Amino acid sequence: MTTPARTFPPGFLWGAATAAYQIEGAAAEGGRTPSIWDTYSHTPGKVDRGETGDVAADHYHRWEEDVEHLAELGVGAYRLSISWSRVQPGGRGPLNPEGVAFYVRVLDALRERGIAPWVTLYHWDLPQELEDEGGWAVRSTAEAFGDYARLMAEQLGERVEVWTTLNEPWCSAYLGYASGVHAPGRTEPAAALAAVHHLCLAHGLGIQAIREVLPEAKTSITLNFHVLRAASDAPEDVEMVRRIDAVANRAFTGPLLDGAYPADLLEDTAHLTDWSFVHDGDLAITNQPLTALGVNYYATNTVRKPVSGEVPAQEGDGHRPSQFSAWVGSEDVQFVPPTPPLTAMGWNIEPAGLTELLVATAERYPTLPLVITENGAAFDDEVSVGDDGTARVHDPRRVQYLHDHTDAVLQALDAGIDVRGYFAWSLLDNFEWGWGYTKRFGIIRVDYDTLERVWKDSAHWFRRLATTGVLPSVEAVEPAAVGAV
Ligand code: FCB
Repeated sequence: MTTPARTFPPGFLWGAATAAYQIEGAAAEGGRTPSIWDTYSHTPGKVDRGETGDVAADHYHRWEEDVEHLAELGVGAYRLSISWSRVQPGGRGPLNPEGVAFYVRVLDALRERGIAPWVTLYHWDLPQELEDEGGWAVRSTAEAFGDYARLMAEQLGERVEVWTTLNEPWCSAYLGYASGVHAPGRTEPAAALAAVHHLCLAHGLGIQAIREVLPEAKTSITLNFHVLRAASDAPEDVEMVRRIDAVANRAFTGPLLDGAYPADLLEDTAHLTDWSFVHDGDLAITNQPLTALGVNYYATNTVRKPVSGEVPAQEGDGHRPSQFSAWVGSEDVQFVPPTPPLTAMGWNIEPAGLTELLVATAERYPTLPLVITENGAAFDDEVSVGDDGTARVHDPRRVQYLHDHTDAVLQALDAGIDVRGYFAWSLLDNFEWGWGYTKRFGIIRVDYDTLERVWKDSAHWFRRLATTGVLPSVEAVEPAAVGAV
């Protein structure tokens, strides 16, 4: 029995995503100065195997080849981020023309191939000098971001299709300033909450600045919503969902989309801060109209109330400082270890969570178009030699993951949700933050000895999806001749 073809609507956007620090390398070239991730990764004990983004996927030198891969994939868009300290060393003052020229070249090459550049201004790599002045815990960083956004709008202008201010401010604030498992590695819960606000303020100032330069600019922000489940129907477990939802999700949708911080969040965190860093007028700045909301989705989380005396633990992730301490104001929440199948990150695989997230977000914000700006999976890939003697990477679990999650997007579309596009994370294997190069998310493999790129089966599969708009079967992984599907 054959099932009917599952087809995406005409104009549905397919893309692939990366981030500057994860792929560029050339950390000290072309006038770039260190970001907090350079400092953090060079601090012993912070990143697995002591790895850094010094070379990464060497995209800074191989960008032309990478643009060709994008063209061959047949995607309509590419989501990249700008390294702030490459274009504006130190995060303030004059631009670095060499850094700006790099991005101009990349954006022009994308445009020439009909690929729309979706540019994220901040994917976690704060110029170190700004961290030295207090980082996201201080207001001046948000103001510096507004200036940087204006300069980028002036320099890059119409080349950019969609401007995304921030990627996953949850990670910047809580992992960077509370649990310390991301740069700058601080463990100060009150500073993390100040960072939440200053990131939202930076977003608002950035959007205002971009619109002043480019009144028609399309704008967005990308959030990593937490799809939460209570371990039981017991009221105390359901209460844990409320607590985490407040600190993880509504701490951002509140200021960004509703123009107010949720009252329960302020109460839950009152022992840490009085939120006096929120100044009069700030919430009108944070609450900007957006062209689309970027949604990153990977997995779900189940929470429960710990039994008395139990030490709360965090999901998976035994060998590094727990992310749990990121849950400021929710110190007594227990994260239930995820149920297999798991990815190499130890994350569960639950495509229905994506449908649920899209439906719930659209119900809450019915006029806001949604775009999945990241979705994908890390698995331990193996290289083999194909019949024709070329290298192959058979990655059936990643193909299945992408298949099931794009199917989950179709289900949201069937339910009438306004989802406009899907970006696979990631175009290339890359520096996976605290995990270094041990986790491979690419649909294209990077050999870190030779820096050679090899298409995995998932890239062939994704090409078929992007070029036909019809959900392929998971078996559809054979390389197709260019121009054919
Ligand atoms: C997201 C990040 C991205 C990548 C994926 C796996 O949180 O935005 O850079 O690390 O996770």
